[in-house]
Amino acid sequence: MSASDGPIPLLAAKYPDAIGAWVAEMSYDVARPIHEAVARELQAETLGYNDPVSLELARESLVRWMKSSYDWSVQPDSIGFVSDIVTGFGAVLNNFLPPRSHVVVPTPAYAPLLDVPAMFGHTVVRVPSLVDGPRQRMDIEGIQRALEDGARLVVLCNPHNPTGRVFTVEELTELADLVERFSARVFSDEIHAPLTLTTVPHTPYAKVSAASAAHTITATSASKGWNIAGLKCAQLIFSAPQDAARWKHTAGFFVRSVSRLGVSALRAAYDHPESQLWLDTVRARLARNNALVAETVAARLPEVIHFPAEATYLAWLDCRELGLEEPAAFFREHVGLAMTEGTEFSAPGHLRLNFALPEDLLAKALSALVRGAEILRAGRHHERGSTQHA
Ligand SMILES: Cc1ncc(COP(=O)(O)O)c(C=O)c1O
Repeated sequence: MSASDGPIPLLAAKYPDAIGAWVAEMSYDVARPIHEAVARELQAETLGYNDPVSLELARESLVRWMKSSYDWSVQPDSIGFVSDIVTGFGAVLNNFLPPRSHVVVPTPAYAPLLDVPAMFGHTVVRVPSLVDGPRQRMDIEGIQRALEDGARLVVLCNPHNPTGRVFTVEELTELADLVERFSARVFSDEIHAPLTLTTVPHTPYAKVSAASAAHTITATSASKGWNIAGLKCAQLIFSAPQDAARWKHTAGFFVRSVSRLGVSALRAAYDHPESQLWLDTVRARLARNNALVAETVAARLPEVIHFPAEATYLAWLDCRELGLEEPAAFFREHVGLAMTEGTEFSAPGHLRLNFALPEDLLAKALSALVRGAEILRAGRHHERGSTQHA
């Protein structure tokens, strides 16, 4: 088992002089069974195409994983392989929606969920989420208005990037009832599902009711949970039989871009007990890091509102009180901490900090965050002083 600190060259690559807390990858070693599965392919020189036998085995692994993790019974022939979730989203937008549809995206949202619909001729309707104490929740009335205006698809991201929410069964059921009333559809991006950090369990949206199963296409992948996004193997789950039948026309096209290494890694992630242990260790580590972010913000950053994550390794920070147009640029340039700008998620003045860092690096990242706020405070103090003297 290995969840120890590893090198972080790729995270740091875009901003080599800064602490890399921006892209959604963990700065931890991968689980040993995954490492070995990929190494076996290398040693056997089987770096060619996928074979149908491995794909069938991967399908069975996913079925077992969904059953044992979420008590969700997935039919093997309802699974479609795609290289990654964003490609799967494009496939759904292209093949399962009328041309020029309106697509509801609750914001803040992972940028490709906002950008990709236009690439397929659709229009995104952004519905800002509501702040409810330390959490954000979807604005169901806002979504209803968009559906009344004719929107055909709601994009659900659960667990949510960037807010880290794990939506409850009640919230999911409310959405399912609403979507059903308007005979609309849901694309449910559940890539972060393995990374729950609290006692709130992940519930697959398609599992909440017969209606949700009938109107949903679920996207899933082992890539976030086990930190293997570069290996390119994700799945769409078509819980409506007519969707599964329709997918068959294009399945052969999309499976071509699934990597053989990704298929091996998926099986090692879902099937190997040591990969499960690795995941549990990483989740415990992330939960501690999540708490450290919360403690630091509460003690040292009164201007910042933190939405503690219930899943993922992302801290969502409302920094509007800092009065910066581009807070990520400020922190990167002044204190060498690279985070993601809220504007990318349709939430200006916010920041996303990736806390899946080795503990010493996270401590440095948080000190940098505090230092940045101190620089701003000192600047304001200075400005006030000079105005008083003028
Ligand atoms: C919510 C969400 N969906 C999709 C992706 C990208 O997944 P993929 O690389 O499989 O397209 C990410 C990556 O950060 C994500 O956070």
